[in-house]
Amino acid sequence: MKPVKVGICGLGTVGGGTFNVLKRNADEIARRAGRKIVVEEIGARRENPAIDTKGTQMTSDVFAVATNPEIDIVVELIGGYDVALDLVMTAIENGKHVVTANKALIAEHGNEIFEAAQKKNVMVAFEAGVAGGIPIIKAIREGLSANRINWLAGIINGTGNFILTEMKEKGRDFDDVLKEAQELGYAEADPTFDVEGIDAAHKLTILSSIAFGIPLQFNKAYTEGISKITSEDVQYAEELGYRIKHLGISRRTDHGVELRVHPALIPEQALLANVNGVMNAVVVDGDAVGQTLYYGAGAGAEPTASAVVADLIDVVRTLTADRDNRVPHLAFHPGSLYDTPIAAIEQTETACYLRLSASEQPGTLAAITSILGEQGINIEAIIQKETSEQQVPVIILTQKVQEQKMNDAITAIEALAEINGSVTRIRVEQL
Ligand code: HSE
Repeated sequence: MKPVKVGICGLGTVGGGTFNVLKRNADEIARRAGRKIVVEEIGARRENPAIDTKGTQMTSDVFAVATNPEIDIVVELIGGYDVALDLVMTAIENGKHVVTANKALIAEHGNEIFEAAQKKNVMVAFEAGVAGGIPIIKAIREGLSANRINWLAGIINGTGNFILTEMKEKGRDFDDVLKEAQELGYAEADPTFDVEGIDAAHKLTILSSIAFGIPLQFNKAYTEGISKITSEDVQYAEELGYRIKHLGISRRTDHGVELRVHPALIPEQALLANVNGVMNAVVVDGDAVGQTLYYGAGAGAEPTASAVVADLIDVVRTLTADRDNRVPHLAFHPGSLYDTPIAAIEQTETACYLRLSASEQPGTLAAITSILGEQGINIEAIIQKETSEQQVPVIILTQKVQEQKMNDAITAIEALAEINGSVTRIRVEQL
């Protein structure tokens, strides 16, 4: 059979990794795909000195790749939104299949991209966009397709997990660890996407759609980052038997699908609590299978290339398949997506960890606990350390409460004259 010709756009960390894996494992890949996969052309603004592209046609114009009549599949690895969207749409318009690692693009423009792809009868594959090398999209979309998914929760940003792990285990400084993650090629071009949870929200939006059969709705995701977590929070969480992790959680509830990214205390014996460094992990709870866990490298050149190349092989295998029998982009057939609402964060129910700075005087704790009591919030544990200072940290672990009630209680506590500054709230997930 004739080889399939691929054009790679972008030769950065993931583009370079993809080129190398395709070259190194060419024979094995051909045996799996049923035909050879060759890189016909690379489009990149700059050469990558670490990658030996000798013998492969290069262009600085990525659109030349998307319109090259020789090319069957365009691999979009330039990242970002604007040019990437134009590039993917141009490729589709020209009848090319697309493989991308661009979670931002899929989460924010996936609905229109898939519609265009459907019309042109081409595939758009995006496994590498979520959790790097872990085949989580394939697992949910195909492996778990018998199940009604109840919920999923994951550590889906390697940079954030790397930062939290290094801070906890080595007491390292936030900025210093972030710089290392950037040097290792883990961090996004704009690292606030990693630390403020935007990258994780992009990935969660995608997982949520394929788990629950709903359109992509990134703009409705609740997103909170890790930049306000202090080493004291990490320590107090440990005293209470928990670890702090940055989680993406999506859950089916009576009032809609929860879609939220925020730091959370999770019991130290939970599997996710022990996922460290740049590793990612996702737990999926299905009605038939129960809980399943997927773990692996969430970022980096070759782990991400592993997912890009697996998508390429999948596309090659389906080139001859009947289009109506291809795996649908969002796991459910386009006409079968539901309009289930995304639940407002105020409706979410979680237990909470609260840290506040209170003045050392009689009646302070009574004032705090009576506010909690008025909102019907039950206290699970409370820590106040002996001190010679005028202000003491008070840590409270509550039982499950509706977010809106906790918001009201926090506002009332912050208004007390005995409370200094704002209250830190971290949600608790028992998973
Ligand atoms: N910046 C992302 C992360 C890269 O750290 O997880 C992989 O998507």
